[in-house]
Amino acid sequence: MDKFFSKIKYFIVIILGFALLAQLYRPYILNKNQKESYDFFKALNAPKKVQHLIINSCYDCHSNNTNYAWFDYISPISWYVNTNIERGKTIVNFSEWKSYEEWRKLSTLSASTFNIKNLRMPPENYLIAHPSKKLTQSERQYLTKWFETISRTTLE
Ligand code: HEC
Repeated sequence: MDKFFSKIKYFIVIILGFALLAQLYRPYILNKNQKESYDFFKALNAPKKVQHLIINSCYDCHSNNTNYAWFDYISPISWYVNTNIERGKTIVNFSEWKSYEEWRKLSTLSASTFNIKNLRMPPENYLIAHPSKKLTQSERQYLTKWFETISRTTLE
């Protein structure tokens, strides 16, 4: 039995060693200096409530202003988190809104409406770690209505 426990101890030490080593591989900083005038809200003159909801629920993955939680810095969580942010930003980056062409703005607006309505954004696994980012039903309705209204009006 003693032998068994000493083996377990080695095992734990090795695991801890790997966990510590993993911290050396830090993700790069994803937040770039953003040109403010390119931002979604600036461009669209969005109401404060819309700004608040989108910053809270979408900006961590779809803007140049990710608000990292403390555990997001810990490897391997940080690797997973940054891969997701990169994927999210490639598809939609609200900080670079003004540089988007008309067709891309329109498709982003309708895809956002669709994804919010169908509870696909913000993603489920993200909401488990960040429960405060969840949108209530009335918030979802408010946001999607606003998205639909600006899709109909001229964007510039
Ligand atoms: C945890 C990170 C994260 C958050 C928060 C998040 N997204 Fe996403 N989003 C992604 C990723 C990653 C993708 C890439 C597609 C996928 O993996 O589903 C994506 C894809 C999208 C797409 C494109 C989907 C398509 O069908 O083409 C839209 C639009 C979108 N997100 C809007 C939003 C909106 C609006 C919010 C806030 C209500 C939001 N997202 C919150 C990570 C996120």
